[in-house]
Amino acid sequence: MLKILVTGGLGYIGSHTVVALQEAGFKVVVVDNLSNSSIKVLDGILAITSQVPEFENLDLRDKLKTQQFLKKHYDIFGVIHFAASKAVGESVGNPLLYYENNVNTLIYLLQELNKKKNANFIFSSSCTVYGQADVMPITEESPIKLAESPYGNTKQIGEAIIKDTCKSNLNFNAIALRYFNPIGAHTSSKIGELPIGVPQNLVPYITQTGSGVREQLSVFGDTYSTLDGTCIRDYIHVVDVANAHVIALQRLLNNEHQYNFEAFNLGTGTGSSVLEVIQSFERVSNKKLNYKIVDKRKGDVVTAYADTNKANSVLGWKAKYSLDDAMDSAWKWQQTL
Ligand code: NAD
Ligand code: WQD
Repeated sequence: MLKILVTGGLGYIGSHTVVALQEAGFKVVVVDNLSNSSIKVLDGILAITSQVPEFENLDLRDKLKTQQFLKKHYDIFGVIHFAASKAVGESVGNPLLYYENNVNTLIYLLQELNKKKNANFIFSSSCTVYGQADVMPITEESPIKLAESPYGNTKQIGEAIIKDTCKSNLNFNAIALRYFNPIGAHTSSKIGELPIGVPQNLVPYITQTGSGVREQLSVFGDTYSTLDGTCIRDYIHVVDVANAHVIALQRLLNNEHQYNFEAFNLGTGTGSSVLEVIQSFERVSNKKLNYKIVDKRKGDVVTAYADTNKANSVLGWKAKYSLDDAMDSAWKWQQTL
């Protein structure tokens, strides 16, 4: 059984990926410092796959402990690196936390992996690296624009660091997966998104409003130059995102990669407006959502959706689930909380 290290493996996307990896027959080792997740996620993973991954509560900002940990697990085939801080607004107020947590931890991991004869690395990147792209849909060749937040900058810097590492060491293979807007939960409703405090993202805010945890959703602006005036995003089911990691890993395992650094967009290829997302919620839940239009949110891009041709034809991955599927799973998950 090939051993894979998943950092941040108890988080939202990480936990779904651990499930997908275990289902595909990999042995998984998780490190997480539980800064944005709960140890109970292990129960959910066990309930779905009948296995628990090996788990270590480790803060990757601790360089020495990270080195020791990787030495102990010298036999891992690859690392999937999810661990990071991800709140855009928080990153503006506390940029150093973001540079430390998202950049330092990446460097510590790469320094250690770089000593191996052969290293395989999958990085959680983001559509945020494109900023407001001039042309839709966004391809992997679209320009990387000046980052709009320290968080976005850590993803750009992260990709650059990995790319340079790959250039300097041809035995270091990496794939950056640029997620668009992951939403939803595992179809079993045993794992899902666990936002701490007030959700910043649209879908958990909608499901919490639907269930009465929040009173009303604020829709940030309806005068954008889109069909209904609200912003457009590419919402992708988290299970599709998780499966892409297994496929990326298999690409490295089977030596199918064309370059030792590759980047792929993970999206559905379809843009949905905020009002369309609300309609999707209303369809799957049979409930009316309480919402009002408020001022635009500073820093929002108007439209972002992926060109998925490269992911489809080169990586061999395609999103299977629709917006309604994802929303249905998000709503079912919310009702378990
Ligand atoms: P998440 O916060 O749910 O998961 C991240 C996990 O990493 C958490 O369990 C947290 O406890 C852990 N972690 C954070 N810092 C750590 C550290 N120093 N040491 C050990 N563990 C640490 O986030 P997520 O939504 O699952 O995102 C996973 C990755 O995907 C992140 O890198 C994020 O930037 C990226 N990403 C997320 C989205 C999204 O919308 N969710 C979109 C694009 C990219
Ligand atoms: C989606 C749409 C909002 C909340 C963020 C990060 C990005 C990436 C994905 C990690 C927008 C609108 C939202 C609300 C609303 N993460 N909205 N009311 O902004 O596309 O991207 O998550 O890499 O870096 O910035 O996602 O879910 O916050 O917003 O009207 O209460 O919903 O204006 O149009 P976003 P989101």
